Amino acid sequence: MATALNALLSLPGIRLAPFPTPVQELDRLRAALGAGCPRLLMKRDDLLAFGGGGNKVRKMQTVAAQALAGGFDALVTCGGVQSNHARVTAAAGAALGLRVVLVANGFRPATLTGNARLNALFGADVRYVASREERAPAMERVADELRAAGNRPLVVPLGASTPLGALGFARGVEELASSPYRPTRIVHSTSSGGTQAGLIIGSALFGLTHEIIGVSADDPAPALAETISALIAGAAERLAARPGSIGGDARPVVDDTFVGGGYGVPTPASTEAMEITARTEGIILDPVYTAKAMAGLIARVRAKVWRADETVLFWHTGGVPGFFA
Ligand SMILES: Cc1ncc(COP(=O)(O)O)c(C=O)c1O
Repeated sequence: MATALNALLSLPGIRLAPFPTPVQELDRLRAALGAGCPRLLMKRDDLLAFGGGGNKVRKMQTVAAQALAGGFDALVTCGGVQSNHARVTAAAGAALGLRVVLVANGFRPATLTGNARLNALFGADVRYVASREERAPAMERVADELRAAGNRPLVVPLGASTPLGALGFARGVEELASSPYRPTRIVHSTSSGGTQAGLIIGSALFGLTHEIIGVSADDPAPALAETISALIAGAAERLAARPGSIGGDARPVVDDTFVGGGYGVPTPASTEAMEITARTEGIILDPVYTAKAMAGLIARVRAKVWRADETVLFWHTGGVPGFFA
C-alpha cells in the first residue's frame, strides 16, 4: 500500500490552482433539515481558483502533465454544450499554451451562455455534432485534421475520466486526510465516474473509511458502477497495485434515483435542493450535477437513513457556470 501511495504521490502533475479547498460546516442547512439531521460539511471544490473551478481541475492536473511530458501541443476533448470538463480543458489549454478543440454534442446556441461562453473566452475552437455517439469519431477526425496541420494533439476522453484523471482526483483526498474532519459518509455527483473512482482510490490510500455515495446525473447505477470499477482497475495497473488494495473490491455505491427526466432536466427535488442551499448558506449549486446530488443527500436526511451523530460531507464538485446557461 505504501508503494501504491508513493506511486500516486509521484505521478507527474501540474498545479493549476492553490490547494486545499476549504471544508465548511453547513449549520443553517442542517437546522433547516430539522431534528435528527447529521452534522453536515461541504468540501468546496466549486471554489477551486482556476478557470471557473470544479472537480475537473483536479483531473486536468495529471492529464495536462501527460500532455506536456509527451510533447503534445493541442488538446481535443468532448462533452455537452455546457460541459464543465470542456470548459476546464479550454482554460488549461489557455494557461499552458496548448491549442484546444472541443467536440460538443448539441446545437451552437444563438447566444453563448455559461460554460459555452467561457469556452469562447478561453479561445477554444468548438465543433458541434448532433449526438453523444458522434463525439468519439468526431474527436478522431479533429485529431487527424490537427496532425495534418502539423500539430501533436492529445485526445482526452469524456470527462477526463481515465485512470490517470481519476488518480488526479485521488490525490485531492489527501486534503481531507490532513484536515481535522472525519466524515462517516461522502455524497457527491457522479457521471463519467472519474471523480468517484478517484474518491474511492484516494480514501483507500490515505486510510479513510467513510462510505462514498455517488448520485448519478444521468446513467443507470449498474453501468456507472461498472465504469467506476474499471477505472479503479486501470488505476491499479498504473500504480502497480492490486485493485483490492485501492478500494476496488467493493461495488461502488451509485444512486440513480435522482436523475428524473434525464441529464440536465431539473426535478422538483433538485430545484428545492438548489433553493434551500442558496437560501440557508449562500452557496450556489449547479442544476445539472450538484443540485441532484444534494437532493440525494436531503432525501436521506429526511428518511433518517443516517444517525444524527454522524458527519456527512457533501463534496461540491462545482459546475457553477452552468447556473448561468
Ligand atoms: C459539476 C460536476 N459535478 C460532477 C461531475 C461528475 O464527475 P465525473 O464525470 O467525474 O463522474 C461533473 C462532470 O461530469 C461535473 O461537471
